[in-house]
Amino acid sequence: MTTVKVAILGYGTVGQGIYRIVNEKRKQFKSTLGVDIEIAKILVSNVNKPRPHAPKELLTDKFEDILAIPNLEVVFEAIVGEEPAFKYLSQAIEKGINIVTANKVMFSKHGLALQEKAQKYGVQVGYEATVAGGVPVIKTMQNILRVNEVSHIQGILNGTSNYILTQMRSEGMPFDEALQDAQRLGYAEADPYNDISGQDPFRKLMILSALAFGEQPNWDEVDVVGITEITAEQVEDAKAKGLRYRHVADVRRDEVTGKIIATVGPQLIGSEHPLYSIEGVNNAVALDTNYIGTLTLVGPGAGMFPTASVMVEDYADMLVKAPVTVSI
Ligand code: HSE
Repeated sequence: MTTVKVAILGYGTVGQGIYRIVNEKRKQFKSTLGVDIEIAKILVSNVNKPRPHAPKELLTDKFEDILAIPNLEVVFEAIVGEEPAFKYLSQAIEKGINIVTANKVMFSKHGLALQEKAQKYGVQVGYEATVAGGVPVIKTMQNILRVNEVSHIQGILNGTSNYILTQMRSEGMPFDEALQDAQRLGYAEADPYNDISGQDPFRKLMILSALAFGEQPNWDEVDVVGITEITAEQVEDAKAKGLRYRHVADVRRDEVTGKIIATVGPQLIGSEHPLYSIEGVNNAVALDTNYIGTLTLVGPGAGMFPTASVMVEDYADMLVKAPVTVSI
């Protein structure tokens, strides 16, 4: 049996989910993937703070300790913000280590560069968890883009916003209370302003744009509006008319100019709209393609296990594509 060593960067909601899933599934991975996955180290900012489930001896606050792990196969990155995440992942790739990330802030900006670097160093990059939590939109798009072209993407890409809008409508819950719930349930960002201001779905939309079109629009030209201005009265009024507020991220290539055009903001939609029925923390991504037609994916867009499980799936895919052959 081959033992593979992996490391986790960050031990917040998602990092803990990875730790638990890898350990819960360790026996199954031995039989299905033929490897024994061992979590060798976890990078945290404070090694003295008690961490649920993880033994203290696995913790380190130095990234050099991660790079020093012999035959490290993959780093699962679940830290917040652009830096030092980009620096760490660049260094990991240069050492021949595969990377799996959930960091949309970092990847929306540096994703194309990291993928180029990974190709140069012969390692793989998994980023399913950067967009729409547990919904397999990245893998699905990578697959359909082999044959189809994607011309237009419309999505609900923030679970927190959708949860708040749903609770306001269905339970008559005040905005602040719904946001607190979303934080308690582990849906919201460390700074929830990123969720409710539209910045979080904007970053996810940019990742989808890079994948679908090989490029992103000029960020300064994208109109990004959040849900903070939507009042309880407006939600009630819409409800009485059979309408719902949805926070929609939209990107398409203009047929005439070829330019990529994106918008992020609330829309008032009726029951005929494909995003009308998407409730709670669910995300949805509707893809217009030339051969398949319109394909809509729906599922939990945030939370510990949906997000962490797609990261572990990313690594399982890597093992299938490039099996580890050396016993260590
Ligand atoms: N805060 C994000 C959301 C988490 O609510 O969708 C998943 O990216």
